[in-house]
Amino acid sequence: MSNKPVIVFEGIEGSGKSHHINIVSKYLKKKKISFFKIREPGGSINSEKIRKLILSKKSNFNPNTDLFLYAASRSENIDLLRKFYKKKVILVDRFVDSTIAYQHYGLGVNIDLIKTINKNILSGFKINFTFLNIVNHKNMLKRLKSRKSLNRYDNFNKNFYNKVQNGFIKLSKINKTKYKIVNSNLDIKLNENLIIDKVKKLIK
Ligand code: TMP
Repeated sequence: MSNKPVIVFEGIEGSGKSHHINIVSKYLKKKKISFFKIREPGGSINSEKIRKLILSKKSNFNPNTDLFLYAASRSENIDLLRKFYKKKVILVDRFVDSTIAYQHYGLGVNIDLIKTINKNILSGFKINFTFLNIVNHKNMLKRLKSRKSLNRYDNFNKNFYNKVQNGFIKLSKINKTKYKIVNSNLDIKLNENLIIDKVKKLIK
């Protein structure tokens, strides 16, 4: 029987994570491998409602409130994630590392609070592998410019995104065997192949 891993795609805005998750989805579809794909914040009906609230440009919540809202959005997804856990390949567009990178490294929220909340929400749900997409500021801005609409989290300054990306990199170093850093400043096809090769090994 093949493996049914939980695979997470992380990275700052414009890092190409959503592109790569779509490439992996297409590959799994082609191979007729059942999978479940979800994004955070969002994904389930209730979580999408929370997404709208957090990311609306009209919102101006403080960093702790953002943490609680991102956590609320995850809490609304966890039953769905559990339903498919170890039954289907699960692809997640952002997860706990995003909360630590943005809310702690970016906005200074207490890391222990973030860990405690997530430990309670996740209890026993484990990630098998994370693709961390990294991008330089110039390319990030170029990709954001081509988007139809921008949200409240697309408008921070360069220093903020540097802190967030460095935070992601720090997290990836804690357990190197469970992360692959994808340099999105390099050739996109090269990265697609690299990711698919790793996915093949993960689901074998
Ligand atoms: P997206 O652009 O990938 O859809 O993500 C929406 C924004 O939400 C993005 O700027 C990252 C941010 N975010 C957090 O700040 N904390 C979190 O826990 C998650 C999941 C996302």
